[in-house]
Amino acid sequence: MCGIVGYTGYKDATPILIDGLETLAYRGYDSAGVAVWNGSGIVMRKEKGQLKNLEEILRKEPIFGNSGIGHTRWATHGEPSYINSHPHADVQQKLVLVHNGIIENYLSLKTMLVNNGCRFVSDTDTEVVAQLLGYVYKGDPLSAILTVMRMIEGSFALAILFMDDPHSIYCACKDSPMVVGIGEDGAHVASDIPAMLAYTRDVTFMSDMQVAVLRPNGISFYNEFGQSINKAVIHIDWDIDAAKKGTYEHYMMKEICEEPVAFRKTLEQYVSVKDMRLKSDCFPWNADDVDKLKRIRIIGCGTAYHAGVMGKKYFSELAKLPVEIEIASEFRYSGHCFEEGEQLIVISQSGETADTIAAMRMAKQRGINVTAICNVIGSTIAREADSVLFTYAGPEIAVAATKSYLAQITVLFLTALYLGKLRGALDAKKVSSLLEELSKVPTHIQNLINERERIQFFASKSFASKHVFFIGRGLDYGLAMEAALKLKEISYIHSEAYAAGELKHGTIALIEDGSLVVALVTQRHLSAKIASNIEEVRVRGANVLCITNGYLPDIEGHCNEVWQLESLSEILSPFCAIVPMQLLAYYMAVQRGCSVDKPRNLAKSVTVE
Ligand code: G6P
Repeated sequence: MCGIVGYTGYKDATPILIDGLETLAYRGYDSAGVAVWNGSGIVMRKEKGQLKNLEEILRKEPIFGNSGIGHTRWATHGEPSYINSHPHADVQQKLVLVHNGIIENYLSLKTMLVNNGCRFVSDTDTEVVAQLLGYVYKGDPLSAILTVMRMIEGSFALAILFMDDPHSIYCACKDSPMVVGIGEDGAHVASDIPAMLAYTRDVTFMSDMQVAVLRPNGISFYNEFGQSINKAVIHIDWDIDAAKKGTYEHYMMKEICEEPVAFRKTLEQYVSVKDMRLKSDCFPWNADDVDKLKRIRIIGCGTAYHAGVMGKKYFSELAKLPVEIEIASEFRYSGHCFEEGEQLIVISQSGETADTIAAMRMAKQRGINVTAICNVIGSTIAREADSVLFTYAGPEIAVAATKSYLAQITVLFLTALYLGKLRGALDAKKVSSLLEELSKVPTHIQNLINERERIQFFASKSFASKHVFFIGRGLDYGLAMEAALKLKEISYIHSEAYAAGELKHGTIALIEDGSLVVALVTQRHLSAKIASNIEEVRVRGANVLCITNGYLPDIEGHCNEVWQLESLSEILSPFCAIVPMQLLAYYMAVQRGCSVDKPRNLAKSVTVE
């Protein structure tokens, strides 16, 4: 989704804006632009396509100045084009602004403005905000912004540069992320933390209907009534390199290679490793709360939803709790009758996914207690949930989620252990033996990563596949869903996940000579059953790759290739098995020449519903 940056200070603004936009590029965009106050006027440069196009223009026609705003646009209203790119100005050129979000009542506002003599140049909803602001502006930027905020409906994060006050950047938001921070050389605003990490690690998250005014030496905050307010500063301890690609060709590969660390860091937050004990104070429920707990509902989108699918199985098996799971965007339409004793768990890497936020708010309004599993401190979901179980994956830049998924299933598993213990479904011995085994997972993952050439070789033979079917039973079906999503989103190969037993009820009709089937067999007690399913596709011409939890004699003779993983307890094996699936998707996408980190049509952070 769109990315916003802004800077006012003592340094040249343009390189800082471009640097920030490059860091935000992972969010997905199709055009980019900047506006800088050059001492006598606000000068804009914008261009369709990649950031390098804008940089090329800036090389030919540079702009120098100490305050400015920048934007990467992911088109919603109006095609990607020069005209529709941000920044947008009002007709009298009193201000320019950049915007993230969607203005739902833009058409009626536009009609009103046209009737009052405004001439529009773009098809965007954003220009309506610029024109409206220019229309109501009578010399007081704050009061004009507050008026406009009351008139517009929908979601917005706005960074605005006024001709009359060009060393200040005015920022306002509602239902769209925005973070501000002050560094040694000036003040910054961005849609996400990594864009300002090079300048400051002390940041403040904007809340709905607040305004921030950035000046070179400080930031002032106002509430929706224009009253001055204080806001907390949060220290972010991600380092700058964590959000940079370093020597890796792609962020995705870097992030897969970071999985052992992401796993260990997350584990150590919740488990005292010296005595293999869960840290009870890290979980937001005491024994009384757990007694009252009747059901868990899980929601999320994309990979976070798939983590929830695994969570459902952990909670059912380890804590003996009934669990419902739903895609966040569907949750609101399901007509739920919530019962007393329900707990909602929302899962989101970014903490900014609009559908997840909307579902969470709906549940909160109905009095449901919400716990978030989230990777970003200070994000909307982390702020609004009743409690948060953080994942410690560090910044994730590639659109395809990898290390965040591993960290999410780790937190879900540990939470299920904690609840299972308090509910008497697990004894202390079982918990500590699982934790003991879990602590070895990073070493197993590292070994898999070290041996990744084998996967690369397999991908070099299979990248021309037109369809890939991932099959599994039990936990492996959940894993298959995530494996299929990884492959399709970055390699554009059609891939589907099926419960292995369900294939013969329809999908098997698609199997033909040479179809690639990946069978996940980490659940040993189900291996004989899945061996039969593998045979069903093999006799119809499929090539079968099998991922097994240790040596499985049932499987060996039935497939074309086996990747045997370190033998682990069945419930833990998916922590390792997901890694070769991510690597397979990665190498298939590389072989096909795809844009691995920024796949077509996708955005890392989907901030519109
Ligand atoms: C987008 C991303 C996915 C991600 C999903 C949920 O679709 O492309 O990688 O899984 O959003 O994101 P969240 O930040 O809520 O986990």
